[in-house]
Amino acid sequence: MKIGIIVHSHTGNTLGVAEKLMDTLTSAGNTVAIERVTAVNEDPSAAGNIQLKTIPDITSYDHLIFAAPVRAFSLSPVMKLYLKQLSSLKDKKVSCFVTQHFAFPWMGGNNAIKQVKRACESKGASISNTGIVNWSNKSREKMISNVIEKLCEI
Ligand SMILES: Cc1cc2nc3c(=O)[nH]c(=O)nc-3n(C[C@H](O)[C@H](O)[C@H](O)COP(=O)(O)O)c2cc1C
Repeated sequence: MKIGIIVHSHTGNTLGVAEKLMDTLTSAGNTVAIERVTAVNEDPSAAGNIQLKTIPDITSYDHLIFAAPVRAFSLSPVMKLYLKQLSSLKDKKVSCFVTQHFAFPWMGGNNAIKQVKRACESKGASISNTGIVNWSNKSREKMISNVIEKLCEI
């Protein structure tokens, strides 16, 4: 299966998890690529309209994994804009994960996942597997392993 992990990551947390996930999926015999979504201005505190700089093309992938940080109890605006501009996700398998600073999923992670789900549903795909990594949680490493395990069930 050809898998694209489409990542928005500013400080590297989400990217680090995506790289571990890629290694595991590759060891299981899949062809996996990480593609970064970036904005012209990556400063998270910048006001004004976001403009995408790097816009990964998803057409060649059978399975997509969207990965992004939580920002202000929501999905990162860069990933939101990226998902919005996709023309269709019909016939794609889709899963996703987010990383967040706070210790518990109800502090933004759950909402961000809901937003990815809604965005993907509006493009014709339903999301099967999802995961949240709470960076300041004492069990962070365990959470990362669990998310990877869950997202590898594809
Ligand atoms: C502007 C901004 C807002 C954030 N808001 C939240 C939040 O609401 N909840 C949370 O748990 N973490 C929040 N964070 C922390 C990030 O979600 C967390 O550090 C994440 O792992 C960063 O991922 P990255 O290194 O891939 O960019 C925020 C970070 C920034 C910069």
